[in-house]
Amino acid sequence: MVMTGKVQLKDGRAVLLRGASPGDVPDIARLLRELSPDSFRARFHGGLATPGLVARLARVNQVPGTVCVVAAPPSELQHLVAEARYVPIGDGVAELAVTVLDRYQRSGLGEVMLDALVGRARDAGIEVLRAVVSLTNGPMLRLLAGYGWTLAEPTDECAIACLEISSAGGMPGWPKDVTGQRILVEQKSWFDDGLTVALRAAGHQVRLCSGPDQRTGRECPLITSGECRLAEGADRIVPGLPAADPHCAAVTEAHRRMWPGKLPS
Ligand SMILES: CC(C)(COP(=O)(O)OP(=O)(O)OC[C@H]1O[C@@H](n2cnc3c(N)ncnc32)[C@H](O)[C@@H]1OP(=O)(O)O)[C@@H](O)C(=O)NCCC(=O)NCCS
Repeated sequence: MVMTGKVQLKDGRAVLLRGASPGDVPDIARLLRELSPDSFRARFHGGLATPGLVARLARVNQVPGTVCVVAAPPSELQHLVAEARYVPIGDGVAELAVTVLDRYQRSGLGEVMLDALVGRARDAGIEVLRAVVSLTNGPMLRLLAGYGWTLAEPTDECAIACLEISSAGGMPGWPKDVTGQRILVEQKSWFDDGLTVALRAAGHQVRLCSGPDQRTGRECPLITSGECRLAEGADRIVPGLPAADPHCAAVTEAHRRMWPGKLPS
């Protein structure tokens, strides 16, 4: 894992990674202005890169505990080509975002930036990192899949999903200040079904997990390492993974074996 320093990208180019400070805000603003309209939209879910908006979005010291990592080519250190940040939103929880300039995308830089940010979060005692991502944002979803995410909030009508990853590896655990039951719902869909809507309406904490997926390489930590913080900490597990998929069936079977009392009889 690279936290700071020189990094060689997959295409041979190099960048220098470092922590950002308020003095970097004008250069972060330039990075945001240089994004293509599609990348700007993917990052901020809409809006136009007007000077006023960009100046506000570039700020790094609005919320105490915010951490920002930036990258630039060694020959042009002020010309940032990537930025990743997290902003604390609760006890041990922060919201993350990663931005890579279009001409540097697909060279592995997004992964490097996210790894660096996750390492900083872990060191700072931030256990859970949230990302608000459009379901059309394949690259960001692929990046997060490498960590193993759970859906923390209902995916909205605009197909914006709220994913959580753990800074310590494996599945993220549950928030510390939970009211109601902690209910893990296993399902392939991004969207709440009637039961999940009712569980949330009753005041329970719900996390959705889509289980292993051969197409994306997503694995279940319960199968690979025998541990899943989400299932361990749940009061109830609602099974719903496809039984015809042997990898999903193995997860359901592991739940039944390890926590029979959490599943419906
Ligand atoms: C999302 C983003 C940060 C990814 O950065 P990146 O440098 O392109 O990512 P990487 O090169 O590390 O690639 C990450 C994965 O996505 C895949 N990927 C990257 N761009 C892709 C594309 N356009 N289409 C399909 N897959 C893509 C890569 O193949 C890689 O998958 P793999 O590990 O399975 O090979 C970058 O595209 C970006 O800044 N987009 C605009 C802003 C944004 O959407 N930010 C996220 C908001 S939360």
